[in-house]
Amino acid sequence: MASSLKFFVLLFFLFSFSYARQSVKPRALVLPIHRDEPTHLYVADIHKRTPQLPVPFVIDLNGRFLWVNCDKQYLSSTYHAPQCHSTQCSIANTHVCRTCSSQARPGCHNNTCTLILLNPVTRHSGPGELAEDVLSIQSTDGSSPGPVVTVPRFLFACAPSFLLEGPLPRGTQGFAGLGRTQIGLPTQLASHFGLKHKFALCLGGNGVIFIGDGPYIMQPGIDISQLLSNTPLIVSRQGEYFISVTSIKINNKNVPINSSLLVINPRGFGGTKVSTVAPYTLLESSIFKAVTQYFANELSSVPRVDAIAPFGLCFNSTNITSTRVGPGVPNMDLVLHKDNVVWRLFGANLMTQARNDVLCLAFVDAGVRPKASIVIGAHQLEDNLLQFDLTTSRLGFSSSLLFKRTSCANFNFTSRA
Ligand SMILES: *[C@@H]1O[C@H](CO)[C@@H](O)[C@H](O)[C@H]1NC(C)=O
Ligand SMILES: *[C@@H]1O[C@H](CO)[C@@H](O)[C@H](O)[C@H]1NC(C)=O
Ligand SMILES: *[C@@H]1O[C@H](CO)[C@@H](O)[C@H](O)[C@H]1NC(C)=O
Ligand SMILES: *[C@@H]1O[C@H](CO)[C@@H](O)[C@H](O)[C@H]1NC(C)=O
Ligand SMILES: *[C@@H]1O[C@H](CO)[C@@H](O)[C@H](O)[C@H]1NC(C)=O
Repeated sequence: MASSLKFFVLLFFLFSFSYARQSVKPRALVLPIHRDEPTHLYVADIHKRTPQLPVPFVIDLNGRFLWVNCDKQYLSSTYHAPQCHSTQCSIANTHVCRTCSSQARPGCHNNTCTLILLNPVTRHSGPGELAEDVLSIQSTDGSSPGPVVTVPRFLFACAPSFLLEGPLPRGTQGFAGLGRTQIGLPTQLASHFGLKHKFALCLGGNGVIFIGDGPYIMQPGIDISQLLSNTPLIVSRQGEYFISVTSIKINNKNVPINSSLLVINPRGFGGTKVSTVAPYTLLESSIFKAVTQYFANELSSVPRVDAIAPFGLCFNSTNITSTRVGPGVPNMDLVLHKDNVVWRLFGANLMTQARNDVLCLAFVDAGVRPKASIVIGAHQLEDNLLQFDLTTSRLGFSSSLLFKRTSCANFNFTSRA
C-alpha cells in the first residue's frame, strides 16, 4: 500500500514536471544563417551568456560540439565549468582533468575537464575547458518564428584565442558543430526540449537551420519536408556525416571512375563526406580529371577560357544561357545507394562566376590520397534542403529548391506581432 502511494506521488511529480516542460515545449527550433562572401563560410549568431549576447559562430556540419573564444571578453554571470569526473564530463566523453596556473576566468580553472578542439579551416587543434552557460534560440511551428526558448546549462568548450586564426568571417567567436555526438548542437537541443533527433540544413546567401522535425515551410508556403528523397547516412566514429555515392553521371551518362575510391576502407579512407566548411566540392585527383574531362566534352559547344584557380574548367559565360536553376549546362547526378536514388545537380550548384564573363565548374582537385575521395562542399549544397535523421541514420535531400520556385532564403523570419 505504502509503495503504491509512493508510486502515485512519484507519478504525480513526474507528471507535473513534464507538464511544466510541456507548456513551453517547442515543436522545433530555427536558426537563421548567412554566407560570408570573402570566406564562403556560413555564420549564425547564437544567443548566449548572461546578460545575453548574440555571438557569431561558423557552422561546421562535422564539428563535434560548439566552441568559443573565451580569452576575449567572455563576461557572463552564468558561466560554469563542471568538475572533473562529473556527469557532464562523461556526457562530453572527456576524462582528462585540467589545471590552469593563471588567474581564474572562463577557460581557466583547476579540476575541470579538457576537450580537444579543432579549427576545421586551419586544421589547428588545441585543448579547451568544458563549460556550461545559457543558450537561447527561437522556436518555430515550421512556418514562422515563435517564442525564444532557453537552455540554462548548454555544454560547450572554451577555446584559447589562437585557435580562432583564419581566414574566418570578421567577428567570428567560435564554431558551432552539428556532428552526431552527445554534446553536438542538434543532439543537445533535441534532448533538452524532447524533440525528434533530426535537423535540417538549408544553405544560401541567407539560409536556415531547423532542429527537430518538419514541417519546414518556405514561402510561398511549400513544406520542403514532404519533398525529400532518402539515402542512408553513414556516421563516422568522430560523428562526421558520409553518404554512399556509387557513381557519377553527366547528361545521364556514366563517368568512368575507380569505384573502390567511393567506399570507405577499413583505415577510414575513401567515401563521400558532406561538409559546410569546404566552399566547393573536393574530388580525389583521378575523379576530378574524369569529371572535368567528361563535362568539357558534354559542353564542347561553348568557348572555353583559361581556368581560374582553384578551378580546372572555365567557360565564356556570354555563350551560356541562364535558366531557373542557374546556367544552362549539363546536369550532374550523384547516384546513391540505389540506381534510382539520385541527387541531381543543376547549373546553379555546378557552376560559379569566377570573373565577369567567366563561369567555372565549381569543383576542386583534392590531390592524390585525400582522406575522403569526395567532399561535397557548400556551393553544391546551396538551395538544397538536407535533413539529417540521427535516430534512423538517414539523409533526406530535396535537390534544388529553385525548381520548386523557392530557396533557402524563403523561410519567413518575420514573427507575429
Ligand atoms: C590551480 O592550482 C594551483 C596550485 O594550487 C594554483 O597555483 C593556481 O592559482 C590554481 N589556478 C586557478 C585558476 O585557481
Ligand atoms: C582504384 O583505387 C584503389 C584505391 O585507391 C587502388 O588501390 C587501385 O589500384 C585503383 N585501381 C585502378 C584501376 O586504378
Ligand atoms: C566572351 O565572348 C565575348 C563574345 O564572343 C567576347 O567579347 C569576350 O571577350 C569573351 N570573354 C572572354 C573572357 O573570353
Ligand atoms: C558566343 O556568343 C557570341 C555573342 O553572343 C556569338 O557572337 C558567338 O557566335 C557565340 N559563339 C558560339 C561558339 O556559340
Ligand atoms: C510572414 O509572417 C508574418 C507573421 O506571421 C506575416 O504577417 C507576413 O505576412 C508573412 N510574410 C509573408 C511574405 O508571407
